[in-house]
Order: sequence, then C-alpha cells, then structure tokens
Amino acid sequence: METKILGTTTEEIDQAAQILSAGGLVAFPTETVYGLGADALNEKAVAKVYAAKGRPSDNPMIVHISSKDDLSMLTVEITEDMEKLSDRFWPGPMTMIVKRRSIVPDVTTGGLDTVGVRMPSAPEALELIRRAGCPVAAPSANLSGKPSPTCSRHVIDDLNGRIDAILCGGQCQVGIESTVIDMTGPQPMILRPGIITREDFERVLEKPVLLDPTLNRRPEEGAEEKLTPKAPGMKYKHYAPKAEMIVFEGESRAVEQAIEDEKRKRETEGQKVCVILFVDNEQENAAHDLFARLRQADQNGADVILSAALTERGIGFSVMNRMLKSAGYNIKKV
Ligand code: TXA
Ligand code: MG
Repeated sequence: METKILGTTTEEIDQAAQILSAGGLVAFPTETVYGLGADALNEKAVAKVYAAKGRPSDNPMIVHISSKDDLSMLTVEITEDMEKLSDRFWPGPMTMIVKRRSIVPDVTTGGLDTVGVRMPSAPEALELIRRAGCPVAAPSANLSGKPSPTCSRHVIDDLNGRIDAILCGGQCQVGIESTVIDMTGPQPMILRPGIITREDFERVLEKPVLLDPTLNRRPEEGAEEKLTPKAPGMKYKHYAPKAEMIVFEGESRAVEQAIEDEKRKRETEGQKVCVILFVDNEQENAAHDLFARLRQADQNGADVILSAALTERGIGFSVMNRMLKSAGYNIKKV
C-alpha cells in the first residue's frame, strides 16, 4: 500500500479527514504521542488498525472526540465527577473510561462494555476529528511493542506502506501517553499514569483517587505476579528497544558511578553503549524525551542502554512506568 505523506495545511488535513470518513487509516499528531486513527464506529476500519500495528485484538482503543459534547454520543451516563474532569482537563492528555453506548462496536472496545474517551488538545488533531465528522479510534501509531512515536519520523519508520496516510506535524509536546482514569467504579481509578497525576485529579474531585494496584508492583515481587491490570494494554510487553536495557536505582552519585563502571566494562568487551540520564527534577523533560531517546539508541546500533531511575513521584512515577517496561524490569540496585 502506498502511504500518503501529508503536512498540516488545511487542505491536507481535509484530505486526511476524507480518508478517515471513507474507512481508511491515518496517523496524526496529538499532544501526547502520534495516534493511528480510524472511524471508531466503523468495524472494518477499526479492524484494520489492529492488523497494521500487529496489535492483539483484546486491547481496546481510545476514542478521540473534538468537542466535550460528543461524550454523550458514546456514553449514557455522565456523572458529576466526569463533568468536573472534562471541564478541567479537556482538551488535554486525559482518557476517561466510561460505560459505552451500543453505537460503539465491540471491535473498538475489545469486547468490553466500557470505552476510553479523550479530547486531545493538539490543534491538528482537533481539526482532523472535526472534519472527519466521526469519533476517531486511535492507539499510539507504533508497531505493537515498540516505543510510542513522538515525531512523524518515528511513524514513518514503523508504518510507512501499512496505512493510508500520515499527517506530519511537529514533535509531541508531552511525549508519553495520556493518563487513563476509570470512572465506572465506586471510586475513580488510574489505570495508566501520565502527565496529569493522581494529585491533580484529587485536587479537582476533592476525593481520593485510586491507583490500579498493579502499577505499584514489579513482576519480580513474586506472589502478586498474577494480578491482572484493568487496562488490557498494560499487560503486554511494551516500549521495548532492540538493545538490552538496564535501569540503575539508588543514591544518585552511586548510580552515576555504577553506570560509568558498567559502560567502561561493556566497551572493553566491544559493545556499543548508550547512556540515558535525566535530571531527576526535570520530569517533564524526561517524559518528553524518553521514547525518542530509546528509538535513537536503536538507530545508533546500541547493544545496551544504561539508564538511571527517577524518583517515583508525580510525573516521575509515570515516566518510570514506561522506563521499567522498556527495560523489561531489568533493574540493578546500587
Ligand atoms: O495519549 C494517548 O492516549 C495516545 C494518543 C494517540 O491519544 N493513545 C494511546 O492509545 O496511548 P493506546 O491504544 O496505545 O493505549 C490505550 C490504553 C491501553 O493500555 C488500553 O488497554 C487502555 O488504554 N484502554 C482503552 N480502552 C479501555 C477500556 N475500555 N478499559 C480499560 N482500558 C482501556
Ligand atoms: Mg500504545
């Protein structure tokens, strides 16, 4: 298949919107990561997304809307809490899991009776969805298992020849995917951490917000291993670079020393080493850069990536969620 590479002029966005409404697949920028879009109400179109990404079909998609009012098209019940959150965080990097209306096909929700909904803030995304005239199902626009794409080059590398078009905008502002919050239980629960944190939600809702218990556990911690995350996508191998990856955890100077030692040792063995060090109190930068740095390491032919853990607080918690998955929980305590 030939993939149209488009810019973000009004004419090009309109062309992309027509492809979407005709049942085609279009990758597009959002403020978090690039998404791979299809008409969320068109079963055949959505089915093609799973095929293009090589994604397991029990993994539900987030449905993107261009106006808060469109939420009522997808769900019957809009609670006061949902209204508070959408008023405060939409458009923006928040996905709410809500009870779905029957208009949303099974293939979009992976058979669940709930649906994830998000109104992105990137202007190109909003314009595309508005012009397409349908809600747009969009997972991240990477091949399944690879780091999410944060610039158009990443999308082209993964999906050129597999989809109808790529809308090429600039770099994504946030760099990690939206916070997913489940609003269908007795208490709101975060299923995937993001740049909007638990504290942010609690401030707006003025009540406690839960974290999916699997988010605080690492697989090596044994007994809890069988806990299944509520967001199906959180259980798959994810964000993995081709290189081996090690995350060093401990007091910062000891970590830097350990990374330096490991680097020297590997290099004497003839390996190509990539070091990814973020400044601990610059968590937004870490979120912005992580996926791009992982892809860059692969591009440079790294054999091993050595990285330092961030403090797991606020956005640091969300970045660490991705970093540890990328490393397959290969952690070295120093
Ligand atoms: O920032 C984002 O959210 C990006 C951009 C493109 O909007 N999209 C994204 O989609 O990250 P994806 O498909 O890569 O991740 C969606 C996550 C998965 O972990 C999925 O299992 C979960 O959300 N999810 C979607 N619908 C759900 C539902 N009804 N119940 C529980 N989890 C759901
Ligand atoms: Mg994804």
